[in-house]
Amino acid sequence: MLTLSSPPAGIFAYLNYHVPRTRREILEILLKGLRRLEYRGYDSAGVGIDGGNVKEWETNAKSIQLIKQRGKVKALDEEIHKQHDLDLEVELDVHLGIAHTRWATHGEPSPLNSHPHRSDKTNEFIVIHNGIITNYKDLRKFLMSKGYEFESETDTESIAKLVKYMYDNRENDDITFATLVERVTQQLQIFSLMYRRGSPLLIGVRSDHKLSTDHIPVVYRSSAKEKSCSSLPRVDQDTSLFPVDEKAVEYYFASDASAVIEHTNRVIFLEDDDVAAVTEGRLSIHRIKRRAGDYPARAIQTLQMELEQIMKGNFSSFMQKEIFEQPESVVNTMRGRVNFDDNTVTLGGLKDHIKEIQRCRRLILIACGTSYHAGVATRQVLEELTELPVMVELASDFLDRNTPVFRDDVCFFISQSGETADSLMALRYCKERGALTVGITNTVGSSISRETDCGVHINAGPEIGVASTKAYTSQFVALVMFALMMCADRISMQPRRREIIQGLKVLPDLIKEVLGLDDEIQKLATELYQQKSVLIMGRGYHYATSLEGALKIKEITYMHSEGILAGELKHGPLALVDNLMPVIMIIMKDHTYVKCQNALQQVVARQGRPIVICDRDDYESISNSCRTIKVPHCVDCLQGILSVIPLQLLSFHLAVLRGFDVDCPRNLAKSVTVE
Ligand code: UD1
Ligand code: BG6
Repeated sequence: MLTLSSPPAGIFAYLNYHVPRTRREILEILLKGLRRLEYRGYDSAGVGIDGGNVKEWETNAKSIQLIKQRGKVKALDEEIHKQHDLDLEVELDVHLGIAHTRWATHGEPSPLNSHPHRSDKTNEFIVIHNGIITNYKDLRKFLMSKGYEFESETDTESIAKLVKYMYDNRENDDITFATLVERVTQQLQIFSLMYRRGSPLLIGVRSDHKLSTDHIPVVYRSSAKEKSCSSLPRVDQDTSLFPVDEKAVEYYFASDASAVIEHTNRVIFLEDDDVAAVTEGRLSIHRIKRRAGDYPARAIQTLQMELEQIMKGNFSSFMQKEIFEQPESVVNTMRGRVNFDDNTVTLGGLKDHIKEIQRCRRLILIACGTSYHAGVATRQVLEELTELPVMVELASDFLDRNTPVFRDDVCFFISQSGETADSLMALRYCKERGALTVGITNTVGSSISRETDCGVHINAGPEIGVASTKAYTSQFVALVMFALMMCADRISMQPRRREIIQGLKVLPDLIKEVLGLDDEIQKLATELYQQKSVLIMGRGYHYATSLEGALKIKEITYMHSEGILAGELKHGPLALVDNLMPVIMIIMKDHTYVKCQNALQQVVARQGRPIVICDRDDYESISNSCRTIKVPHCVDCLQGILSVIPLQLLSFHLAVLRGFDVDCPRNLAKSVTVE
C-alpha cells in the first residue's frame, strides 16, 4: 500500500504490529482519522484494508479490500457496514489499513474515482495520493499501450498501474516494496512535486515499550553500486525505529497532526522526497541521495497540541468556536512577546534579523485569501512605523507578473497553514532572487515556516474551519508587533508606539465586548439571509475589513458579496445601490470618518438602507436613523480587528440560516496546495 501526500485532501493510515485489534477497531480508527481531516474539504472517501480472514491473509497477500463512497465519511461508514462478507470481529495481530478523503480534481466525485486506487483487479498494489500528477496523461498512454486497463478518470490511478508495471518488470524477485516506491516516485511529475512531495505527511508512533532511538537516521542510497541494487540499503537496528524488545508498536500516518493526536503525541515529520517504510514493525526513512545541508536524521518530536484544541466543545461548528476563541488567540499571539509594563515588543524569530530588515528598500507582503487581507489591513501601520514602501500582493498574481524582486527586498509570506501552493512558490521565487524571506505562519513545521529565513509563529492554535477567522486576527496582531519592533529605537515614534501597545493590551477585552453582539447580529442575519447579494464598503483601515467580510460571506453562505473601497463608490459601485440592495458600511472615527460619512449620504440619497458598523460613541452615525452595529473604540490601526468580528459572526449566522455546512463549504479546501 502506497501513500503519497500533498493536500488539500486527507490521508490517514494505521499499522498495528503485534497489537491485536479486531477489524471493527481498525476500521473505527481509520474512519476517526478521516473525520479529523474532514475540515480540509473533500467530496468522497475510501479505505483499503486486509479483507480476508486471518488464515487467508497469511497465505494470500492479495486479499486487500477496497471500500469507497461519494460524499461524507458517514456515507463511507454506512457502505462499510453493508459489506456482509466482511467479518468485523476477526482479530488481526499485524495489519495495515489506509484511508483517504478526496477533493476532486480529475474526474467527478464517485466511488470509482475515489481512493485507494488499485494496480489491477486482484488489488495487488493500492495507492492513496493527494496532489496532481501532471504527466499522468503520458503515463496513462504508455501503460495502456502495455496492456494495463484503467477504470477511473483520475491521475492517481496511473501511480497504481505504474507500481504494477515496475513490479512486473523487476530485474529479480528480491526487490522490496520501498525500492519500488522510490522508483515510481522518480517517474512522477507530481504537480506539487516542485515545491513539496512527501510532506506534510507525519507518522505518529505509539508503543508501551521503550523505543530504540529518538532520531531515525535517514538511509541514503547514494553510491553507484547501490543505485543498481534491487533493494534499498540494509535496514538494521542502527537505521530504524523499533520497540527495544521488538514487541508491540502502532504507527499512524497522516497528512495532519490533528488526525493522530488522540492516539499519540510522538510524531516524525517527513521531509520532501522522504520514503518511509515499515518492515516487521521497524520504521526506516529513505532518500535517494543526500542534498547539501540535509539533516541526516528525522527526530521524534512531541506534539504540543491537545485533543481539546481540535474538539468543537459546546459550539455547533469549528468556525463558531474559532470566532469565539479570539480573545484568547490574540493573547497567545502576544504571549511572551509584548511587555505592557515597559512598552517593548520582542519577536524571538525576528530579533536577529531586524537590523537587516531596517536596512531594506521595501517590504512585500505576499499571501492568498484571508491572509492577503491581513496584509491589506496592516499595510498602513507598517508604512507609518517602518517608513518603508510596502507592497501587498496576491501570490498568484505576483507570480503571474514575474514581479521584479531584489536582494534588498524583504518578502513576507503570510499563511495560516504554511502550505498554500501559490504562497510557497512565491517564496521560492523571492528566495532565488536573494530577498530576505519572512514567514507569518500558524503551523510550526509547515513548508513556509521551514523555508523562510526567519519569521513569526502566530500561535493562534489549530484552525479547523475552512473559513479563516482567528488566524486573521492573529496575523494582524503579529504584523502590528513587527511594525512596533521596527521602530523601537525611533524617539519620535514613542508616543505612537505606546498608544498602539496599550491598544494591544485592551484588545482581548474589547474583542469579548464585540462577541457580546452575537444575538444582535444573529437577528440581523435572519433579516438578510434570503437576499442574493450583500455589498460591504469601507476605506482606510477598514478596506481590508470589507474585503474580508465579503470573502467570509461568499465562502460559507454562497451569497454574492463584494468588498468595496468606499472611495471608489462613485466610480461604479453606486450604480448597484437601490432600496433593495443590502449595503454594510464600516465607518469608524479615524482620519477617513468625514469621507465615509459622505459615502453614507450618497447611499442614503439613492434610497439605500445601509447597515453601519460604527464606533459606540459615534452619535452622528447612530442618530442618522440607519441601522447600526456599535463596537467599542480602540486605537485606529487595531480597530480593524474589532470591525471584522461582526462580519465573521454575520457570515456564520447567514450560513446556518441558509442550511449550509459552515466548516466545510462546497468546492473549498482548507489547505490549497495546488496552483
Ligand atoms: C520560540 C519557541 C517557543 C518558545 C520561545 C521561547 C518554537 C516553534 N517556538 O518562540 O516554543 O516558547 O521560543 O523563547 O519552538 N520561523 C520561520 N518562519 C516562520 C515562522 C518562524 O523561519 O514562518 C522561525 C523563527 O525565525 C524562529 C523559529 O522559527 O527562528 C521560531 O519562531 P517563533 O515560534 O515565532 O519564535 P519564538 O516566539 O521565539
Ligand atoms: C484557502 C482557505 O483558500 O486558503 C482560506 O479556504 C485561506 O480560508 C486561504 O485564507 C489562504 O490560506 P493560508 O493557509 O495560506 O492562510
